[in-house]
Amino acid sequence: MNKLADIKGPVDAAGEEYAGPGGEASYGRVKPAGVDTSHGAILYLDGITVSFDGFKALNDLTLDIGVGELRCIIGPNGAGKTTMMDVITGKTRPTSGTAFFGQSIDLTKLNEAEIARAGIGRKFQRPTVFEHHTVLENLELAMKADKRVRPTLFARLDSEAADRIAQTLDLIRLGNQAGRLAGLLSHGQKQWLEIGMLLMQQPQLLLLDEPVAGMTDAETERTGELLNDLRGKHSLVVVEHDMDFVAQIADGGKVTVLHEGSVLAEGTMAEVQADPRVIEVYLGR
Ligand SMILES: Nc1ncnc2c1ncn2[C@@H]1O[C@H](COP(=O)(O)OP(=O)(O)OP(=O)(O)O)[C@@H](O)[C@H]1O
Ligand SMILES: [Mg+2]
Repeated sequence: MNKLADIKGPVDAAGEEYAGPGGEASYGRVKPAGVDTSHGAILYLDGITVSFDGFKALNDLTLDIGVGELRCIIGPNGAGKTTMMDVITGKTRPTSGTAFFGQSIDLTKLNEAEIARAGIGRKFQRPTVFEHHTVLENLELAMKADKRVRPTLFARLDSEAADRIAQTLDLIRLGNQAGRLAGLLSHGQKQWLEIGMLLMQQPQLLLLDEPVAGMTDAETERTGELLNDLRGKHSLVVVEHDMDFVAQIADGGKVTVLHEGSVLAEGTMAEVQADPRVIEVYLGR
């Protein structure tokens, strides 16, 4: 498990090891420098409670996400799914509990910008692309916003950067839309573009909150294919209500059901769907 950590990345001009964009495999870093994932997990939430005036949006939530895993999180409205993402990204501080990124990065001690820089990307529900720029420009801007790309390395990285953009365009199904203004894309295409923009920053953990909300059936299906393409290359946490979509991307992997701020059930999609407690929280409302 620990082998990749031993592989030396290229050495930059200052003789310093550099594993930023283009450093290792140019696309997809499951096991990047900086995050100690030697125990196999990228994220550990332990006993997280978030109280809003005494109401516990999260209640002793304990959850681990494995490196390269695509974890689906489901649960009825108000279960605490978005609040969980708020805690991971530093938007909300837990009242108690611990949140670790890898073995040693304590997320509760970092602010939102520091957490993003450490390698956690988040996709909100509404797409936030630069509407007056082309698809290609949006990806370039996202890459340049990555503070880990040092300006001195830009010249050397140019061709690698172009390769990464081309790979990302294909991945997000916008290879033939590169010159189009982002504002002219469909809702689904904007969502894919935003996923692409997040990928340009090479997050080690990507959080997606209801990525297919508002999409057409065809767009939803293609989003499932896109996320399946990311499987194993990135660690992903996907919150979604659309059960057909969850079934499409869960692929025998673990699905976690949240209810009233804690984990109600965890297992394959088939296991959780057959769990009487899960059936009750979904039907009992
Ligand atoms: N800032 C806040 N102040 C007070 N209560 C909050 C706050 N944020 C969330 N809550 C409450 O915490 C609970 C969990 O909300 P959260 O948004 O995490 O649920 P969710 O699982 O994402 O639901 P949905 O599926 O509807 O998106 C809800 O009852 C919500 O009203
Ligand atoms: Mg939510």
